[in-house]
Amino acid sequence: MKTRITELFGIEHPIIQGGMHHVGLAEMASAVSNAGGLGIITGLTQPSPEDLANEIARCRKMTDKPIGVNLTFLPGFVAPDYPGYIEAIAAGGVKIVETAGRSPEKYMPQLKEAGIAVIHKCTSVRHSLKAERIGCDAVSVDGFECGGHPGEDDIPNMILLPRCAEELSIPFVASGGLGNSQQFVAALAMGAEGINMGTRFIATQEAPVHDNVKQAIVNASELDTRLIMRSLRNTERVLNNAAVEKLIEIEQTKGDELGIEDIAQLVGGVYPKIMREGDLDAGPWSCGMVAGLINDIPTCKELIDRIMNEARESIRGRLAAFA
Ligand SMILES: Cc1cc2nc3c(=O)[nH]c(=O)nc-3n(C[C@H](O)[C@H](O)[C@H](O)COP(=O)(O)O)c2cc1C
Repeated sequence: MKTRITELFGIEHPIIQGGMHHVGLAEMASAVSNAGGLGIITGLTQPSPEDLANEIARCRKMTDKPIGVNLTFLPGFVAPDYPGYIEAIAAGGVKIVETAGRSPEKYMPQLKEAGIAVIHKCTSVRHSLKAERIGCDAVSVDGFECGGHPGEDDIPNMILLPRCAEELSIPFVASGGLGNSQQFVAALAMGAEGINMGTRFIATQEAPVHDNVKQAIVNASELDTRLIMRSLRNTERVLNNAAVEKLIEIEQTKGDELGIEDIAQLVGGVYPKIMREGDLDAGPWSCGMVAGLINDIPTCKELIDRIMNEARESIRGRLAAFA
């Protein structure tokens, strides 16, 4: 399938694996890219630019297809060495960066000078338009359903995608809540030129996470996610667990008085314990509502082939029959 996204990134299928903290390692990114999608290494999971350079080199040994790197611009905390990370990306020959969080405006000159295509993840029309204005090549439109940070506007993809189609000139992919071929076709119908998936890719054979995490996603329903840190305007959609319930209790008790210091111990540094050791209750971890649609643990190639083959059948068959 050819879209402006496959052309921009030089990939076979318009399916991207979004950056995921402690999931987006070389194994994950290479598996998606080898399956014809775009695999993305999560930059900040690597403690330093040197570590990111090594991870890119490791990934290069596993695939000769295009790969990307996610750079998440975090709010509030001491800024990581972003220029150093971008240098490592450029030196590693990576030509695609997925930015997220705050606007990448400050780093656009450095990214563009290195010939890097930038896809910025946005949860609103106004942020998408800003991304277009500052020279991003594409946008990943992340609806309220998404795992991770859905922003504060709470607009689901059924509205957000057609709104972005009305306003944007650059291509965009649908992100958040996506996991199967029917949704992929619907996203194309609403103006997207591809999809970005997070949660769905965790429940694959190659995802470098503990089996407990994959099983938890398979076992979860669409009712099992919770929103945390709303009052801090750093909302995150996570899978419910004992730690999340404790955190929500603290949030309810503190109300508007809640500060990051009240929950720092519950949320800080928990990802390695969860993703590597499978200690699911160690803290909150991002997970999307799409968990309700995930019932198996295929290889990345099986998953991507299934989505693409079923989508083609559905466009030629069921949908054509309506025309
Ligand atoms: C476990 C997990 C960790 C994530 N970590 C990041 C991250 O570090 N940076 C980022 O930009 N997005 C992150 N995301 C968001 C994904 O890149 C993607 O936008 C999101 O998962 C899409 O929604 P979906 O899970 O419904 O597919 C994460 C998502 C998950 C599930």
